[in-house]
Amino acid sequence: MFDALRPQAPDMILRLMQMFRDDPRGGKVDLGVGVYRDATGRTPVMRAVREAGRRMWAAEETKVYTAMPGDPAFLDAMRRLVLGPDTGAAIATPGGTGALRQAFELIRLARPDATIWLPDPTWPNHPALISAVGLRQATYRYFDTATGGLDVDGMMADLERVAAGDVILLHGCCHNPTGADLRPAHWAHVARILAHRGALPLIDMAYQGFGEGVEDDALPTRRLVTQVPEALIAASCSKNFGIYRERTGVLIATGGGDVVQDNLTALNRLAYSFPPDHGARLVATVLTSADLEADWRAELDGIRRGMVALREALAVALRAECRSDRFGFVAEHRGMFSRLGLSPAEVEALRDRHGIYMLGDSRMNVAGLTADTVPVLARAIAQVTA
Ligand code: LMR
Repeated sequence: MFDALRPQAPDMILRLMQMFRDDPRGGKVDLGVGVYRDATGRTPVMRAVREAGRRMWAAEETKVYTAMPGDPAFLDAMRRLVLGPDTGAAIATPGGTGALRQAFELIRLARPDATIWLPDPTWPNHPALISAVGLRQATYRYFDTATGGLDVDGMMADLERVAAGDVILLHGCCHNPTGADLRPAHWAHVARILAHRGALPLIDMAYQGFGEGVEDDALPTRRLVTQVPEALIAASCSKNFGIYRERTGVLIATGGGDVVQDNLTALNRLAYSFPPDHGARLVATVLTSADLEADWRAELDGIRRGMVALREALAVALRAECRSDRFGFVAEHRGMFSRLGLSPAEVEALRDRHGIYMLGDSRMNVAGLTADTVPVLARAIAQVTA
């Protein structure tokens, strides 16, 4: 049996994490995996999450199963956080990846011949999950490497080709890997295309709070779901609550009636029976306690502002070191990532000569920088691109 197995394609993000761990050099800089780090290089437990854990520990009297779709308090809180009003079918999932997997499973049940349209580029796990589920996929143009901005004309032209019943995957904010986000006018254009092509949006919301703010990051999604009859939203709590290892996410479906909830609940049962509850309960505790929610929003916004400041400092340092505006887009991008537009050889030189790790497509995690490493990175980029 097992001799029939073939090795799996390596996951580049996980491989880079291992290479960084194995590098014995002292001053190495990790700009690889999308994890927030503070000025001391730690990924802290957020204050409100720590306090929620204390309160939960004191109040919890049982570990018996919750509901098959997940704890109703968590689902209500997440619908409110993402959509504003707490409507729509929803299930708790293990992380944002779990939510995406369940979204693709639901699409397969509803419309197995649908094509899922992905932005080019996108998070590498998107195409991998779609292949695993056995759905068809295609890409639409999204990013212009030459300018570091969007390829709006290419994107809209490609989306005009989607068929009725196809699914368009959109990053709700903080596009991974490029950092280039759609503007309100682009979202409006996408909504018109979705409506007249009869396609369904699947919004991946993995970084709510890291772009323009918790509320502002959700606005395009909130608007879009009112403009189309049906939508899917996969949201992750890994980054904005800093609970990466707890595996906490939610899949929300708007439109479609009770049969959607029924199918989502069945998908949970088939995949893992009841969804994990610990992280979901932490999130629900934060979002249903006024003091904790206010503190969580304040801490997250501080993190967001710190990352915007790092972007601005890096853009200034790069302008000085490279004597050009080539990397000015770094200050415009939002979220954890920017794709710098370096060649694979330049990315390798950064790693080999300077101990600076970023993905092979030159995606860097801004949150891996500190005030001290910004000039180090700018100098290294100037050297490898000279
Ligand atoms: C990333 O893109 O680095 C994160 O989403 C982590 C992951 O699981 O890939």
